[in-house]
Amino acid sequence: MNFKKVCILGLGYIGLPTASTFATHGVKVLGVDVNPHIVETLRSGEIHIHEPGLRDVVKAALASGNFSVSTQPEESDAFIIAVPTPFHHNKFGEYNGQHFKLADMGAVQSATEAVVPFLRKGNLVVLESTSPPRTTLELIAPILARSGLQAGRDFYLAYSPERVLPGQILRELIENARVIGGTTPESAKAGADLYSIFVKGEIIQTDATTAEMVKLMENTYRDVNIAIANEFARLADKFGVDVWEAISLANRHPRVKILSPGPGVGGHCISVDPWFLVESAPELTSLIYTSRKVNDAQPHYVVDLVKRALGSLQGKRIAALGLAYKPDVDDLRESPAVEVVRVLQVEGAQVKAWEPFKPDANVEDISMASSLEDALKDSDAILWLVRHTEFINLKPADIASKTKARIIIDTVNGWNVKEWQSAGFAVSRLGVRKQ
Ligand SMILES: NC(=O)c1ccc[n+]([C@@H]2O[C@H](COP(=O)([O-])OP(=O)(O)OC[C@H]3O[C@@H](n4cnc5c(N)ncnc54)[C@H](O)[C@@H]3O)[C@@H](O)[C@H]2O)c1
Repeated sequence: MNFKKVCILGLGYIGLPTASTFATHGVKVLGVDVNPHIVETLRSGEIHIHEPGLRDVVKAALASGNFSVSTQPEESDAFIIAVPTPFHHNKFGEYNGQHFKLADMGAVQSATEAVVPFLRKGNLVVLESTSPPRTTLELIAPILARSGLQAGRDFYLAYSPERVLPGQILRELIENARVIGGTTPESAKAGADLYSIFVKGEIIQTDATTAEMVKLMENTYRDVNIAIANEFARLADKFGVDVWEAISLANRHPRVKILSPGPGVGGHCISVDPWFLVESAPELTSLIYTSRKVNDAQPHYVVDLVKRALGSLQGKRIAALGLAYKPDVDDLRESPAVEVVRVLQVEGAQVKAWEPFKPDANVEDISMASSLEDALKDSDAILWLVRHTEFINLKPADIASKTKARIIIDTVNGWNVKEWQSAGFAVSRLGVRKQ
């Protein structure tokens, strides 16, 4: 199939890199977002998210004349839907007395509805948003049928999961293997034709529900494995073992690859997607459910660690380093670091948080520092929550000169204990009994 014009709905971390990459590969792209502020920002040549290299690609896309943005779709050869699929914050499912989170498919539904008036025979529609199994067949196809056209007969419909790593999106978008699940084999083929415009990785065709499952299985696999690493950290602490040493030794086994523990699991993918499987089949997902619970409880475990390091939390001033959900990104969504700070405050601590990737972040109930120095200034302890590279590089002697705090709590195992101890700090680490 030949694609001259593509309409991409949702210009966030996924949609914007995808739109600008298509545009720099010679395709006319209309990027659509319901947020007029985002559309205006892009029109003025700026970008609203932090992703290395993205500004240059967006600039190149705009300069090529191939990329325009709007709040409304237009007729196109293909439509790609890359809108958010978070979970509901105040609506839960229940099975056997256990509560689980539910996917909020509102944005997917309204983006699909927005395509209906512009859908024509021979078009291709691809859903990229991470979605519960059977969404393409049971939610998307019926909405698009309101156009009078039928998926598989009049137009092509496919699901293609996105598996890029924030921080590496532009490279991975091109190099990663891509799975395209068609509602018919012809739809999968049409999807493969579209993405082969820029994808250099392997393109694998399958059916739509398999492709939906693939994405959910990938993230659930990681969530379950992080949960076991977090439980190992708790066990190591109990038995006086250094979990980081134990994991590195266990990983010398040729068939073992234990992941790293940490303050919890966050972001819009790994902490969310397993719930889509639980919601779809609660009777079959007790392991997945339990892993989510273990990881959601991890911030509370970190708070206990801080309490042990400080004796009590009441009135203690803590400098929290990092609020993002993972290293070297500015994304605070579902971040366990944010949760740690909130719980510490509930328990009476006064926390000042420093997030170098989002210094102007306005996070409800959290007092943000304007700089590292500001966070450290009056603190009694330093709590390291996100393994940003610039925190790894902090020099103990330099930090000692900026604060009276002489207690550090490292939840990511990034600092050399001996160096910090030599500079006069008492060091607590996650998964290691106090040293
Ligand atoms: N960010 C990632 O690393 C990543 C990786 C894999 C999969 N995903 C999945 O991709 C999807 C998109 O994620 P994201 O991180 O790009 O989200 P995002 O929040 O960064 O961006 C989504 C954009 O969609 C816009 N939007 C909402 N409703 C819309 C509508 N009806 N029409 C048009 N635009 C609309 C929002 O204003 C926002 O700008 C999600 O399902 C996510 O789970 C994300």
